[in-house]
Amino acid sequence: MHRAVCPGSFDPVTNGHLDIIGRSAKLFDEVVVAVGVNKSKNRLFSPEERIAMLTEACAPWDNVRVDGFTGLLTDFCLEQDIDAIVKGLRAVTDFDYELQMAQMNSSLAPVVETVFVPTSPEWSFLASSLVKEVATFGGDVTGLVPEFVREHLLKRLAERESAGD
Ligand code: PNS
Repeated sequence: MHRAVCPGSFDPVTNGHLDIIGRSAKLFDEVVVAVGVNKSKNRLFSPEERIAMLTEACAPWDNVRVDGFTGLLTDFCLEQDIDAIVKGLRAVTDFDYELQMAQMNSSLAPVVETVFVPTSPEWSFLASSLVKEVATFGGDVTGLVPEFVREHLLKRLAERESAGD
């Protein structure tokens, strides 16, 4: 059994994330989509909300499950018997940081391999942060995130606006 993790913040999940998750599901027996809690970043959605959206978005794949993790990704991998960390690379600009993380993770847990998957060209510009920014200023994000995620996003931004945030 080869098990992989697709880790990320997923605030919120985009079609670019789903491209990588779906392709990982073809390469591995089981894929765990792991929502990390990174305290340094301000999130629009809580971990529970991000996990719920991912669970709905990943429903088409029988061998994909969604979980949350705190602490080190490598500890999560060792606890869950995960062999590989899958990371999508959108462009060479992603590579420096991802290589550094892969090498740090390898030094922490040599049995866990990092596998880089090139993002499909149609999603190479896509990032959750950009989707949020575009939606905040009234831009149309249709086709960049699943439709139900777009609805959650617009609702949350409207709530923030009416709360004066
Ligand atoms: O979607 P993101 O923000 O790029 O996801 C980053 C994430 C959650 C994958 C990364 O921050 C992470 O692995 N965090 C867990 C803490 C950890 O293991 N840090 C050491 C990485 S070398």
